[in-house]
Amino acid sequence: MTTASNRLYFGDNLDILRERVADESVDLIYLDPPFNSNATYNLLFREKSGAQSATQIMAFDDIWQWGLESESAYHDVVTNGSKALADLLQAMRSFLGPNDMMAYLTMMAQRMAELQRVLKPSGSIYLHCDPTASHYLKLLMDAIFGRANFRNEIVWHYGKWSNVAGYFQRNHDIILFYVKSDRAKFNKQYSLSPDKKRKLEIGYQVNRPGGRKQLIVYDRKKASKKIKEGDYDKIVYRDNENPGMPMHDTWHDINIINSQAKERLGYPTQKPEALLERIINASSNEGDVVLDPFCGCGTAIAAAERLNRRWMGIDVTHLAITLIRHRLHDSFGEDLKPYHMLGDPKDLLSAESLALHDRYQFEWWALGLVDAKPAQDKRKGADSGIDGYINFFDDNSGKAKRIIVQVKSGNVQRGQIATLKGDMEREKAEIGLFVTLKPPTGPMRTEAAAAGFYEPSHFLGHTFPRVQILTIEELLSGAQAHYPRFAPQATFRQAPRRLRQQREQTRMIWELYT
Ligand SMILES: C[S@@+](CC[C@H](N)C(=O)[O-])C[C@H]1O[C@@H](n2cnc3c(N)ncnc32)[C@H](O)[C@@H]1O
Repeated sequence: MTTASNRLYFGDNLDILRERVADESVDLIYLDPPFNSNATYNLLFREKSGAQSATQIMAFDDIWQWGLESESAYHDVVTNGSKALADLLQAMRSFLGPNDMMAYLTMMAQRMAELQRVLKPSGSIYLHCDPTASHYLKLLMDAIFGRANFRNEIVWHYGKWSNVAGYFQRNHDIILFYVKSDRAKFNKQYSLSPDKKRKLEIGYQVNRPGGRKQLIVYDRKKASKKIKEGDYDKIVYRDNENPGMPMHDTWHDINIINSQAKERLGYPTQKPEALLERIINASSNEGDVVLDPFCGCGTAIAAAERLNRRWMGIDVTHLAITLIRHRLHDSFGEDLKPYHMLGDPKDLLSAESLALHDRYQFEWWALGLVDAKPAQDKRKGADSGIDGYINFFDDNSGKAKRIIVQVKSGNVQRGQIATLKGDMEREKAEIGLFVTLKPPTGPMRTEAAAAGFYEPSHFLGHTFPRVQILTIEELLSGAQAHYPRFAPQATFRQAPRRLRQQREQTRMIWELYT
């Protein structure tokens, strides 16, 4: 049993918030949702081959267009949301009509209602957006968090050159800061003008009327070595005082991630760590839980890790997840606290990415695809060579028959099928199932075919190959293992029927081990 409390989820944040995040369990939320899919995004989500990964384009292609999904989200909010939110959304719809903006606001309303639920009474939320939608989002925040809980509209101004005509350059983002209640924590932050910053090591210089120069010193010891007293009209010592002015709501001192930025990872919407550090320092303390439900390449997560907060990140693309994992590894190395990686790949690319990063999670996920139960916690050492089991009934003895399952993410060869046959004999299994990420070789198929068929004595005429090979790609396209399914499936307790049954079963497996 691992004690990791940090969590990185792959999946749609609405599902994950609803299914996995408890009420009042989060201290600080930062969210930076995407809006207006554009050429940059499309470039990002195109594979090297030129093909697009279905999962990866999902967030940008479908979500923000008015369609069936938005219509059903709208009904969800209007029927299940608070009266204030339902009234507001209906008013917005009559003003905007069913367009892209309305689709975006509806999806955001659903998610923000969940975010309000998971926030502790002492918690705060920062919604990062820009003037395209900030005015509508502020209304949503008022309806969900309450007008009295509005704290700031932060203007983050950055230097960016663009050749626009007919209007002023658009050089700022908006960050809407709300709290859950009056009990919210807030640690005062300080700013430094660029001038003052230059002299931060000891203090800063102030020019007084009449050309008089005053020096404010924070570090008396250092200053004594560095300054000549005669150079100043007055020296004021403010030892141990916080440098700078209390931070106001227009932030000019943090640059965007441009091509020169050291922390740049190539993710187009990457935000600077300094921005997130300010937010995290202001509205949380060490050990608190920070949630970023649209975590992208993981800026909030990296900042939370650095500032000794616990964290939870969610993103719907494996590309983002892969970047975050590398980022955390590269930034913290050995010092990185353990974290859980949770979520289910829905296409081959995501499955490959999962296998690359964590073979065990991949195996568990693959076992979930065939409804198998993991053989044991492999991390603990003992490994019989069998990854999982499927039980089935095909007579009325009450005794389950067994399929043993082997999962491979690396290269595969004939000898592995021979080993599986040996394991079947030892375990007295009726069927052996070999699940592989890479395509099987011809000799493997021949070896598997040589095992012949299983024919249940109560169902003569029904035959099932004794050794079956299934690739992840086949499974993702709906292929299934062949075995008698005459009686209720015996491997798991029957879970209540859900829309996404596969996901449910995968979750049960993970819960066994986390
Ligand atoms: C603007 S980016 C966030 C950038 C991030 N702040 C950073 O610094 O890297 C928005 C992210 O939200 C993710 N996303 C979009 N829809 C989502 C959803 N329904 N659930 C989870 N993540 C989603 C996208 O994959 C994208 O990575």
